[in-house]
Amino acid sequence: METPTSSNSNASSLRWKILRQALLRRPSLQFPNEQSEVPIKRISRRTSQGFNLIPCRIVDGRVNEESDGRLVSVCYTLPIDGAPELYVMQREDSGADLSDFEICNRYNVDNTGLVCRWPSEDVLAYFCLSHADMFRSKKIIELGSGYGLAGLVIAAATKASEVVITDGNPQVIDYIQRSIDSNSGVFGGTSVKAMMLHWDQEDVSNISGAFDVIVASDCTFFKEFHKGLTRIIKLLLKDDEASEGLFLSPKRGDSLDKFLEEIEKNGMHFSVSEIYDAEVSKRHQCLMNGDDSWPGYEKDHCYPLFVRVTR
Ligand SMILES: C[S@@+](CC[C@H](N)C(=O)[O-])C[C@H]1O[C@@H](n2cnc3c(N)ncnc32)[C@H](O)[C@@H]1O
Repeated sequence: METPTSSNSNASSLRWKILRQALLRRPSLQFPNEQSEVPIKRISRRTSQGFNLIPCRIVDGRVNEESDGRLVSVCYTLPIDGAPELYVMQREDSGADLSDFEICNRYNVDNTGLVCRWPSEDVLAYFCLSHADMFRSKKIIELGSGYGLAGLVIAAATKASEVVITDGNPQVIDYIQRSIDSNSGVFGGTSVKAMMLHWDQEDVSNISGAFDVIVASDCTFFKEFHKGLTRIIKLLLKDDEASEGLFLSPKRGDSLDKFLEEIEKNGMHFSVSEIYDAEVSKRHQCLMNGDDSWPGYEKDHCYPLFVRVTR
C-alpha cells in the first residue's frame, strides 16, 4: 500500500513472529509469560474477559450459508428499555491462519481486529448508549472499529443521522457489512455504512471535514500508527467548535501519552478522565479488589481512560 518504513518493518517482523508461533503452537494463540515474547503477546493476545456491561450470547441460525465458516452471530442485549437486540458477526475463536497474516501484511495493519472484541469497545458502546444525546442528529465515524459494537450501538440507539464504521483491515470490513445487513431493521432513519479506512490513506477527500464526532476504542497502543491516526482525526473532524473525538484506551505504558503528545503537535487539544461512568468505575474497583472474573486484571493495561479531543 505504501513504501515500508522502519516502523512498518518492525510491525511486519512482529507479525511474522506471531505467524511462526501460530504455526508452531496451533491451535492455541496464548503465549507463556516469557520475557522475550512480551512484544508478541502485545500485538496479538486475545482476551475473553471484559467489563461485561452489555450482556451477549452466541446464537445459531443468523449466519447464512455463504458465511465464512469461522463466523458466529453474537446477540447483544442493550441494557436500556426499548433498545433492540443487536447481532454482531464475530469469529468464534482467536485462531489466525496464513491468509490472515498475508492480508495484514498487504494492508499494513495488525490482526487485532480479528482476535476478539476488546474490553474497551464494550465500555465505549456502553458509554455511547448512556450518552445518546451526544450523538442525536450528528454524523459519526468509528475508527479502527474491529467488530464495530460501538458504531452499531450508536446507529441502533442514539438517532444519529449517519454512522460510518471503519477499519484498515478488509476482513474486518466484510464482517461489519454482514453485521449491518443482519440488523438493517433496527437503524430507523440513521444511515449506516462500513468503510475501509487506513489511517495513512492519502486521499480522504470524500469524507474530509464531515464528522461531528469520531469514536474509537483501543487504537492508541501501536506507536507506529500515532502519526497517521492523529492526522486522520484532524482531517475528518468538522471545522466546528463542537466537533470532537471520543476515545477509550488503556494507558499501556507510555503509549497513550505518546499519542496525546502527537495530538498536541498537530495543534489539537485534549482532556483525559479516569472517572467518567459510575458503572464502569464500580466494575473496575471490583476487579482491582480481587474479583477473579478477569484473571491478571491490572489498571495500566486493562482499564480504559476516556480521552476527548477537539480541534
Ligand atoms: C486493538 S484493535 C481494536 C478494535 C476494536 N476497536 C475493539 O476495541 O475491539 C485495533 C483496530 O485498529 C485497526 N487498525 C490498526 N491499525 C490501523 C490503521 N493504521 N488504519 C486503520 N485501522 C487500523 C485494526 O484492524 C483493529 O481492528
